[in-house]
Amino acid sequence: MHTETHVSNRWSSRYAYILAATGAAVGLGNLWKFPYIMGENGGGAFVLVYLLCILFIGIPVMMAEVAIGKRGRSTPANAAAMVSVESGHSSHWSVIGSMGVLAGFLILSFYVVIAGWAAAYVLYAGTGEFSAAAANSTTHAEAIGTLFGNLVSSIPQLLIWTTLTVVAVVYVISKGVKDGLETAVTYLMPALLVLLICIMCYSAIVGDFASAFAFMFDVDFSKLTIKGVLVALGHAFFTLSLASGIMMVYGAYLPEGVSIAKTSIMIAIADTVVALIAGLAIYPIVFAHGLEPSAGGSIVQSLPIAFGSMPMGDFVGTLFFIMVVFAAFTSAIALLESAAAYLVERQGLTRVKAAIIAGSGIWLLSLGTIGSLAGSEWAQINFGFMGGNIFDALDYLTANILLPLGGLLISVFAGWIIKTEVVKSEFSLAPWQFSLVMVLLRFVAPLGILFVFANSVGVLDFIS
Ligand code: PHE
Repeated sequence: MHTETHVSNRWSSRYAYILAATGAAVGLGNLWKFPYIMGENGGGAFVLVYLLCILFIGIPVMMAEVAIGKRGRSTPANAAAMVSVESGHSSHWSVIGSMGVLAGFLILSFYVVIAGWAAAYVLYAGTGEFSAAAANSTTHAEAIGTLFGNLVSSIPQLLIWTTLTVVAVVYVISKGVKDGLETAVTYLMPALLVLLICIMCYSAIVGDFASAFAFMFDVDFSKLTIKGVLVALGHAFFTLSLASGIMMVYGAYLPEGVSIAKTSIMIAIADTVVALIAGLAIYPIVFAHGLEPSAGGSIVQSLPIAFGSMPMGDFVGTLFFIMVVFAAFTSAIALLESAAAYLVERQGLTRVKAAIIAGSGIWLLSLGTIGSLAGSEWAQINFGFMGGNIFDALDYLTANILLPLGGLLISVFAGWIIKTEVVKSEFSLAPWQFSLVMVLLRFVAPLGILFVFANSVGVLDFIS
């Protein structure tokens, strides 16, 4: 049953909302995942598809989610049900909310492990491990590789860092310390961007910037597989925090009079810029050190090489990883918020209990990812096309199945199910702008997602 709970909290301003939503969007997806999946999927063509997905699918779906949350003024499942009933349809549309909360929960179970790596790297940088690795220039890249290898093969280390991360996230959510975070986001996010730009400039000088630029922006479709297209689509959802409940939750707190379209575009631009700069900071190092793009394109493997050789590199490295931890933290908080808010509303738990229960579940599930990384046998169960271990399977299931499927349902819901006047009044756009967004929500997004799904499971091969 849907309880008639109404969210009465509001963001203090439009600015507070943009900060929170950007904090949720910018995270490990931009800094860790985007650079390495770009490497695995051949560069330029993948980047182009990813950008198209953000523009034509991601932004309209974000607008739809925020509008649903705002209209329903409730947690995702309730909000979707209310909006559906308001338009004379079934309350079963609550599934778009519940599915999102489930996806968010699964994502967080491996997100906390990767955030734990970043926390470990703060310590490594601070204790001079990166410059020590650089001492012998012939084995520099190898030494950094060993550092990473030792971390991910050590169950105790992964456990400690993951547990610390989970405890910190649960603490913040149970206390609801939004204000402190708001201030921190205000300073740390711009600081992260500035530092990232500085690191990019350093990489450009000492590394192979021309190759990196060509790798990222020369479009060669022969390097892109249909699986790569699905990964790009899934990542567009992941990086913008879509289809995981959170944008509906944040939409429910949105004050009247804030433009959903403008803020969505701003959030998407900020998120995309950070991802592209991260790529441009990492790949010059990858190419200069002869690493394979498909293996070395990750902040934990290539950037420490740069920190090892740059002046004051240990200090810069420490600062950088503190900011990565922070960026990951603001995303992790959003992910737990979505699960906790669900437990509070649907199960009537207190906020503290909800945070602890959701956090414990996430911690337990994170053991699967830790086991997968450290190569323990039980975590290597074969999940078929979803990948060889629990970590790969969770990543595949969320980013490549649940998020795009959620996006498909959300676009159909907003495009075809909710009354047009309702969508119109929430978006409050000029007529031509509204028509454009509706074409995207009704046709481009759903058909695009279906097309990619169908191709990646080979349905179209069968038909033709
Ligand atoms: N967008 C975050 C990132 O890119 C991850 C995330 C997904 C956060 C879904 C919230 C919800 O790191």
